[in-house]
Amino acid sequence: MTRGTLITIEGLDGAGKSTLADALVRELAARASHVELLREPGGVEASERIRALVKDPALAISPRTEALLYAAARAQLVQERLEPLLREGAVVVLDRFVDSSLAYQGAGRSLGIEEVRAINRFATGHIAPDRTLLLRISPAGGRMRLHERAEEPDRLEREGEDFFAAIAAAYEDLARAEPQRIRVIDATLPPEQVLRDALAAVEDLLVPSARSH
Ligand code: TMP
Repeated sequence: MTRGTLITIEGLDGAGKSTLADALVRELAARASHVELLREPGGVEASERIRALVKDPALAISPRTEALLYAAARAQLVQERLEPLLREGAVVVLDRFVDSSLAYQGAGRSLGIEEVRAINRFATGHIAPDRTLLLRISPAGGRMRLHERAEEPDRLEREGEDFFAAIAAAYEDLARAEPQRIRVIDATLPPEQVLRDALAAVEDLLVPSARSH
């Protein structure tokens, strides 16, 4: 099947994912004819509404509900936007994907990685990232960067140290289990270096003859 390329960006809140995503898309646009940037939860109208709901600190949302809401937002994004883009051959940079649910809901909320993987398989079908850039930052480092932002913390950002420590550990386990797909990048380096490392980690995907599918 001819298809595009899916590059996902993962990491703790405050790791600098959005900054990298913007810069990466600018660089990739010079090398590929069709490059798109999407984010999760969001990217299409229904999923953006779920995003507002799931981040609202005024709402009580149980862990299972939370996992299902993220999966529902993902299912809509995949069907409405991601699948068509990949079918057209686009390079898609996606700010968070299934690994976020595995780390945040599977480990952070203690629902279990495999349980959360199963509902996401249902939500996304066969779609898997070609490459995942994991921005590594310590929970304390991520928290410090969040505090530097002017915005009020959302429902998840209000969680305590144990929650983020469990997420960080889960990301490390995922990266160890799939070293070919998940490339770890030191998020404490200056943004220009983070971008250079990210480009080096996806370079092989941009050479058509090096593609395996
Ligand atoms: P962000 O777009 O600022 O990263 O916000 C998304 C928040 O939602 C962030 O705290 C991580 C969290 N999240 C999950 O807990 N599970 C998920 O599957 C996704 C996509 C995000």
